[in-house]
Amino acid sequence: MNNLLKGKKGIIFGALDEKSIAWKVAEESVANGANIVLTNAPTALRLGSINKLAEKCNCEVIPADATKIEDLENLLDKSMKILNGKVDFILHSIGMSVNVRKKRHYTDLNYDYLIKGFDISALSFHKLLQTAMKMDAISDWGSVLALSYIAAQKTFPSYNDMAENKSYLESIARSFGYHYGKDKRVRINTVSQSPTMTTAGSGVKGFDTFFNYAEKMSPLGNADSLNCAKFCVMLFSDYTRMITMQNLYHDGGFSSMGISDEVISSLEN
Ligand SMILES: NC(=O)c1ccc[n+]([C@@H]2O[C@H](COP(=O)([O-])OP(=O)(O)OC[C@H]3O[C@@H](n4cnc5c(N)ncnc54)[C@H](O)[C@@H]3O)[C@@H](O)[C@H]2O)c1
Repeated sequence: MNNLLKGKKGIIFGALDEKSIAWKVAEESVANGANIVLTNAPTALRLGSINKLAEKCNCEVIPADATKIEDLENLLDKSMKILNGKVDFILHSIGMSVNVRKKRHYTDLNYDYLIKGFDISALSFHKLLQTAMKMDAISDWGSVLALSYIAAQKTFPSYNDMAENKSYLESIARSFGYHYGKDKRVRINTVSQSPTMTTAGSGVKGFDTFFNYAEKMSPLGNADSLNCAKFCVMLFSDYTRMITMQNLYHDGGFSSMGISDEVISSLEN
């Protein structure tokens, strides 16, 4: 195993169960020498199996609803105490659309649901960064990542209002990346991941079909969560110090494709 994060301290949001992308990022970070704190919304802590992961990673779990500033302040404060100093990296792996969950069509959105989903999936990233900056909780040259999806750039009808949430999330990485970069050399990026079989992923209508479609379109096939975790570890490491304000595709080549031979032959049959 590599030691890319030896001596580094991090906070990982969003590990719900073993399928979660954040679960793999936590395991890979610790395997690469990092000390971490895990966090998730209080309800998710009750429903999920995060304590199993905490045991494996020999780390603590601090509940935080990422939409609540007081929870984020408490999380950052406690993390700095537990980890004995500022954090070097943070993973924001949070997404939820109430409209998707309640099966509302994009042309018949409930705006209260939309605002709740936006707060959780996108605005929480700004809240996290702003709170961290005010508390000076991230070390110089730290690295912050959020997970995104290509529906921010191209239309995937069943992704619904999550498309706008991901566009906003990616924009925050650019805008905050400027300010945090100037202030503390902290870098902020989003990783645009292939469709992945997780609780959030499979909540999207027709997910199996577009998982298979992306698999056929991508020359390398869909990127799985373990490979995503390895990519995140690299982006947390000192090997990527000059990368910031980017949306980085981790998708087996999907984003550069128009059509593939496999998709053509599946349509011919
Ligand atoms: N699965 C995919 O196909 C896919 C593809 C690209 C990007 N992503 C993104 O990856 C990220 C992680 O999703 P996942 O697929 O691992 O699914 P997941 O369901 O395992 O993770 C989503 C997490 O968000 C957490 N969350 C929800 N509301 C919260 C709140 N108020 N405060 C704090 N945490 C909250 C959940 O508890 C859960 O742990 C999301 O941003 C998702 O949009 C997923």
